[in-house]
Amino acid sequence: MPAIRCAGLVKRYADVVAVAGVDLTVETGECFGLLGPNGAGKTTTIEILEGLTEPDSGDVEVLGMRWRDGPESRALRERLGIQLQETQLGDKLSVQETVRLFGSFYRSSHSVDEVLALVELEEKRRSWVGKLSGGQKQRLAVACALVSRPELLFLDEPTTGLDPQSRRQLWDVISRFRAAGGTVLLTTHYMEEAERLCDRVSSSGPRVS
Ligand SMILES: Nc1ncnc2c1ncn2[C@@H]1O[C@H](COP(=O)(O)OP(=O)(O)OP(=O)(O)O)[C@@H](O)[C@H]1O
Ligand SMILES: [Mg+2]
Repeated sequence: MPAIRCAGLVKRYADVVAVAGVDLTVETGECFGLLGPNGAGKTTTIEILEGLTEPDSGDVEVLGMRWRDGPESRALRERLGIQLQETQLGDKLSVQETVRLFGSFYRSSHSVDEVLALVELEEKRRSWVGKLSGGQKQRLAVACALVSRPELLFLDEPTTGLDPQSRRQLWDVISRFRAAGGTVLLTTHYMEEAERLCDRVSSSGPRVS
């Protein structure tokens, strides 16, 4: 069974066709990259797959399940890790408080120590989120996505705006997640990142009708 299967995905906003008939299959254990310029519909596509946006039409299956209200979707959510393109974390919470808060949303989760070790933020555990660098904040956002021990990780431009070293640190986080058997769907603008991390990619362009 593939981790993600979608067919004929369409989403329109007024006269903008944000997603124009996307078909894709992501196999279990692979890293799949969605490429495309600004406005190509990457975030819209990934948010539909995450069950956060309703498509106008099309069929979505994630880990063999469909998004619908009720306990099934709740159970599916427990198995996913999601990093949004713009994660707003509380500036006045510490790193460890933030991870603990996200962990509390799930029935089973990594300990704070485990997850901070995964993203190499142990030394910052008592720092306020508002005092972290951009790269550290981004790794914290990925930590929050990893805290539930997900099978499938969604990353929307995880390394945009990061310096080369921070980018490589995040690549290592993603590689370790995959080495442990995880599946990843990510969006990126960087060809180098897609080449380094992804088994397969798909690209789309902006469409206006
Ligand atoms: N909530 C919304 N309301 C109206 N239009 C929207 C909405 N969300 C997205 N769009 C439009 O849909 C198109 C696709 O946007 P989307 O954010 O999916 O692109 P993207 O590929 O993620 O771009 P970027 O690389 O800049 O993140 C854009 O033209 C955008 O303006
Ligand atoms: Mg986007």
